Amino acid sequence: MTTQAGPRTAQELVNPHWWMPFTPNRDFLADPKLVTRAAGVHYTGFDGSRILDGSSGLFCVSAGHGRREIADAVRDQILELDFTPSFLRGHPGAFELARRIAGLTPPGLDRIFFANSGSEAVDSAMKIVLAYHRARGEGQRQIFVSRERAYHGVGFGSGALSGMVNNRRAFGLGLNGVVHLRHTQLETHRFSRGEGEAGVELAEDLERVVALHGAECIAAVFIEPIAGSTGCLVPPRGYLRRLREICDRHGLLLVFDEVITGLGRTGAPFAAQSFAVIPDLITMAKAITNGVQPMGAVAVRRGIYDTVLNAQDNPAAPEFFHGTTFSASPAAVAAALATLDIYASEGLFARALELSPYFMNAVWSLADLGIVTDLRGYGLLAGFDVASDGVPGHRGYLLQKRLFEAGLHIKTTGDSGLLAPAFTFTRDQIDEMVAILRRVLLTF
Ligand SMILES: Cc1ncc(COP(=O)(O)O)c(C=O)c1O
Repeated sequence: MTTQAGPRTAQELVNPHWWMPFTPNRDFLADPKLVTRAAGVHYTGFDGSRILDGSSGLFCVSAGHGRREIADAVRDQILELDFTPSFLRGHPGAFELARRIAGLTPPGLDRIFFANSGSEAVDSAMKIVLAYHRARGEGQRQIFVSRERAYHGVGFGSGALSGMVNNRRAFGLGLNGVVHLRHTQLETHRFSRGEGEAGVELAEDLERVVALHGAECIAAVFIEPIAGSTGCLVPPRGYLRRLREICDRHGLLLVFDEVITGLGRTGAPFAAQSFAVIPDLITMAKAITNGVQPMGAVAVRRGIYDTVLNAQDNPAAPEFFHGTTFSASPAAVAAALATLDIYASEGLFARALELSPYFMNAVWSLADLGIVTDLRGYGLLAGFDVASDGVPGHRGYLLQKRLFEAGLHIKTTGDSGLLAPAFTFTRDQIDEMVAILRRVLLTF
């Protein structure tokens, strides 16, 4: 790795030229946590240590790291067709991928728009919603509804939908016309597995928004079926269904942001299927390429697509003036096709479902630790809270550093930790993950 003249320590390798995202840069430069390789469910640290990946990177690498099939597909694609714009040109793989995704989404959500990230998928969905209402003569429907503690991304649209204060406070007014429902983390849900028994009435917040703003002014409701980044908030039983009913009553579109929950995390292709509530649009990203190429997508109900297309009279003009240079870029499409092949041929969504009870039992074994103040989980996604040390997020930050040093990577947000193992984890690896967690939590 190093030569005599080359860098020797992690500190010597890093520099402040890379302004790192969502990272305390000064602390990172002083105490870098570098990874150099990944294979299976492990990273290799800069010092050669093995680090178990407890969060699939960032909820992306559901089929495990270093999948040769994906690498080969991307390499072959680049050598065959490296780039073509998706504006006025197309390539067969993108049509095939759209067809394949449409085979996984709930019936009817079979029109697929490609983006390059979750944030872009959400912003694209917001524009699709507005274009749809305008096409049907209801262009005054411009208000978006989302939730406190939501995370929908970092664009000015997706950021406005988000409901986590640190992602908003530095950035001014953002997009106007976004209203937030209350979040669903209730005291009575603490340590409850799966859907909470209480709290369905929180969906009635949407009726209050309708009463305040007028249904005819509201475009859509954006909801993560399970609020992910904020710490895995599983919806109360019946909550999503109630939102669907209220949306139907008032003509609002319902959008599920499945950037984390999509592609098997809940044990079904999408959480919409796990909770048996079908939205009008679904956003996805992350695991769609197993994390190896940037890609996001929006699955859209066919009637919405038809309405937007049919509203354009000029056959030489795009029906939807939106898209990016790298929409459906060939390498990302190849990665996604190879990823979907792996999910199907290895039955990984079913495996996630089968592994879930074992995973939940293992995670709940941490409930006896005094520092753990809550546990939540569904499918292969779990969240836990640690008692604050008085500075919000400080203990969570220290926790992820100590865990990394002890051989476990997890995502933390504030004083919450998120566990999202690859669907290829063995039971022994789940035990190992929880054993490291216990050991490190006991150091606080
Ligand atoms: C539900 C949800 N939506 C959107 C995003 C944004 O995705 P990206 O970071 O790819 O822009 C995330 C990222 O974690 C997410 O969890």
